Amino acid sequence: MDSSLQHLGTPYVDSFLLHGPSAGTGISDDDREVWRAMGELQRAGKTRLLGVSNVSVEQLGLLIDVAGAVGAAKPSFVQNRCYARTGWDREVRALCRAHGMAYQGFSLLTANRTEIASPELGSIARRTGRTLSQVVFRFAMQVGMIPLTGTSSPAHMREDLACFEFDLSPADIASIERVGQPG
Ligand SMILES: NC(=O)c1ccc[n+]([C@@H]2O[C@H](COP(=O)([O-])OP(=O)(O)OC[C@H]3O[C@@H](n4cnc5c(N)ncnc54)[C@H](OP(=O)(O)O)[C@@H]3O)[C@@H](O)[C@H]2O)c1
Repeated sequence: MDSSLQHLGTPYVDSFLLHGPSAGTGISDDDREVWRAMGELQRAGKTRLLGVSNVSVEQLGLLIDVAGAVGAAKPSFVQNRCYARTGWDREVRALCRAHGMAYQGFSLLTANRTEIASPELGSIARRTGRTLSQVVFRFAMQVGMIPLTGTSSPAHMREDLACFEFDLSPADIASIERVGQPG
């Protein structure tokens, strides 16, 4: 944290995220200690909010309990790679909603190339006159995610920001939610 504050030239950050639990399943004693220390950083005013990334629904549930046990806040942000084939991380998003945590979806474009190339997405893009990327980001916003973009291109950033200018219909949202799902 101290090194980040020095590099950023700021006395505090808005959000400080744990990149992920130390293993693919469960919350270890090390994770517990990390979250306790992150809680201390928040109390010291070095970060306004805490978050966690790369978690399963099982780990997120455990982390919420651990946060309470070590006297730290639960995550305000949950940042996950968001795959269409998992219903766009449906279970983790539901747990976030239930606990008032904001879900940040990343790799929305790069993790879902096959689904984005599907006839369903193509037809929605043609009908709305929007690009495939815009349809995906707009979908993400309408289902309650904060979509993260990995672009380094000013033109793509403008394209992404134009997602605030249109709406998808409930039928389009339902169709995108089903893309890549079995059955
Ligand atoms: N928490 C974690 O573990 C973790 C891991 C990975 C990434 N992230 C974060 O997630 C965010 C998204 O990362 P990502 O790279 O996986 O994202 P992404 O948005 O899925 O993909 C970005 C790639 O798609 C291309 N692209 C084409 N059209 C685009 C458009 N209209 N808008 C945006 N990109 C377009 C970009 O090229 P151009 O540059 O040419 O636009 C870039 O190569 C980043 O902020 C990153 O820091 C977090």
